[in-house]
Amino acid sequence: GRYFGTAIASGKLGDSQYTTIANREFNMVTAENEMKIDATEPNRGQFDFTNADRIYNWAVQNGKRVRGHTLAWHQQQPGWMQSLSGSSLRQAMIDHINGVMSHYKGKIYAWDVVNEAYDDSSGGRRDSNLQRTGNDWIEVAFRTARNADPDAKLCYNDYNTDNWSWAKTQGVYNMVKDFKQRGVPIDCVGFQSHFNSGSPYPGNYRTTLQNFAALGVDVQITELDIQGASAQTYANVVNDCLAVPRCNGITTWGVRDSDSWRSGDTPLLFDGNGNKKAAYTSVLNALNAAVPSDSPSPTPPVSPSATPSDSPSPSPSDSPSPTPPVSPSQSPTAEPGGCSATMRTVNSWPGGFQSEVTVRAGGSAIRGWTVSWNWSGSPTITQLWNGVRSGSGSAVTVRNESYNGTVAAGGTTTFGFTGSGGAETPSLTCAAS
Ligand code: G3I
Repeated sequence: GRYFGTAIASGKLGDSQYTTIANREFNMVTAENEMKIDATEPNRGQFDFTNADRIYNWAVQNGKRVRGHTLAWHQQQPGWMQSLSGSSLRQAMIDHINGVMSHYKGKIYAWDVVNEAYDDSSGGRRDSNLQRTGNDWIEVAFRTARNADPDAKLCYNDYNTDNWSWAKTQGVYNMVKDFKQRGVPIDCVGFQSHFNSGSPYPGNYRTTLQNFAALGVDVQITELDIQGASAQTYANVVNDCLAVPRCNGITTWGVRDSDSWRSGDTPLLFDGNGNKKAAYTSVLNALNAAVPSDSPSPTPPVSPSATPSDSPSPSPSDSPSPTPPVSPSQSPTAEPGGCSATMRTVNSWPGGFQSEVTVRAGGSAIRGWTVSWNWSGSPTITQLWNGVRSGSGSAVTVRNESYNGTVAAGGTTTFGFTGSGGAETPSLTCAAS
């Protein structure tokens, strides 16, 4: 049920070795640079989605979903934005979020709304032109984003937030906790996880993911690369994500070592010739060893505890808060109830489409669901996620995966698919168990 993604660079879409590997191995895509502020709004009020759309279209036409990266960041601002300050910069940020998110409305799985807003060592905010517009700039960005595209998950994304005892991790944790308490719309936290000797994979990484998830947000590993690509460390990261039910997936920051922003570190799963590295095998083995199961999920192997070299270099200014208990979202004894389901077309292009089905529980919680429909034409499902498909020909049946069968009374869950042929929105029947 988790995705495994990669960053894609538009300039490499003509490289057939690159696209072959990317298409074969990954089902989530992040634009490495093309959805950033300088790329999408090179002149104020003039948006350019040429390269962003090249990546988006390649991804969706190959059955992949897309993470949006990124809307508000102190880096990769176009010159006109760098020279703004105060209320005009604040307005420019709001306009930028609205402009980009409306172009991709309903099409992006999750947006990195705000990127890298925390200082590396103090646990406080990083100084930047955005920060100088007022401390509320982050929540304004999230509220703007929610209005612009209510269907996208909204993430805060940062690096060096992997080690639970680091002050930066605590700073971001406290912001997310505050946002959840005050109803600021935030759905997820992205952990870039660029691991190297200065910022090594910490033995408490799983604790960090668990503690953030316990605040009521999803967690995603958004830019994974590991200096030297230790097979063991890659497996540890995968097992840590698998151990946290709200860890949605993992994205590596590039395909081959030669595609990496740190190519000299050979930090990825494929070498410069496109060959699978030992880390690839260890990731695949960890994924294959995972047993999908209803909550409480089995705990994958615990990673080795932190070695002295994992100790924080910046010392935490205060001790970490105790881990809040994780409360189960559903009572396991909930009575079965009815359900309903609706389908919408997320995107379509000549010869193909992407659709999403929302399953809604009735007056009681449900523990499983089965959605059925008949195509009137002859679309073919090419890839389906968050559901298990059966049926053949024009009759389609999709039942829940082990991890998304339980839905609270009145609550919803979704599954999605890409298809070839013309998009349809048939009426659906939903059976609950
Ligand atoms: O495309 C131009 C090329 O025409 C020009 O000749 C060349 C000369 O410098 O620059 C090329 O653009 C570079 C671009 O990458 C594409 O390769 C930029 O200079 C360079 O600054 C840019 O670096 C990107 C970096 O973000 C910028 O901050 C990296 O590719 C990208 O991997 C990196 O990604 C970030 C995430 O967004 C946020 N987290 C950290 C991560 C790594 O730094």
